[in-house]
Amino acid sequence: MAHIVAIAGSLRQRSFNHALLRAMQPFVPDGSKLEIHTLRGIPVYDQDREQSDYPEAAARLKDAIAHGDGLLLASPEYNHALPGPLKNAIDWLSRPPGDRARVFAGRPVGLVGVTPGRGGTRFAQAAWAPVFQALRLLPWYDQQLYLDDARKLFDEDLSLVEPRVRDLVRGYVEGLFAFCDRYSRTTR
Ligand code: FNR
Repeated sequence: MAHIVAIAGSLRQRSFNHALLRAMQPFVPDGSKLEIHTLRGIPVYDQDREQSDYPEAAARLKDAIAHGDGLLLASPEYNHALPGPLKNAIDWLSRPPGDRARVFAGRPVGLVGVTPGRGGTRFAQAAWAPVFQALRLLPWYDQQLYLDDARKLFDEDLSLVEPRVRDLVRGYVEGLFAFCDRYSRTTR
């Protein structure tokens, strides 16, 4: 029974990455929870605001993560790397330094991504690895979920329609929840 906080790493109205997180909901085990958050309201990082004017949206997201059992990022790929808006949010969440352990250290994390292109966000996934390392997160690497050709996977309503990919998503969700159940900081 784990509670995973997921962040959709795109603000786009018809984001495939957000749709991928929504497509996971039917596979969440009974009694567990996948809570989807967005980047809305998180400004560009400014160290001058850190002490006296910390953004509310970032503070709320930080608390949500701190109260959960695990984190899940749905990350687009921008220019063969991780997307600035999601990295920007993570940078806010990692500050001030005194909060970093509370929010990230030892926390199970999953990473998924989808693109209309052909590379399946593999460059972005690789680019997140050193960030996870810096934050002392506990990545779940047993399965990878990076999806290409997004326009063929989702219908007009952004529902996931490809049966083979639905099976992959189901397997990923079940595996990640099992990992969080096992390694959640609150159950240790
Ligand atoms: C992209 N896109 C993209 N796709 C990809 O597979 N590899 C890449 O390197 C890039 N680079 C890139 C740079 C920038 C600045 C943008 C805006 C886009 C395309 C990207 O995958 C596509 O816009 C997705 O739809 C973004 O994810 P969401 O918004 O659908 O979740």
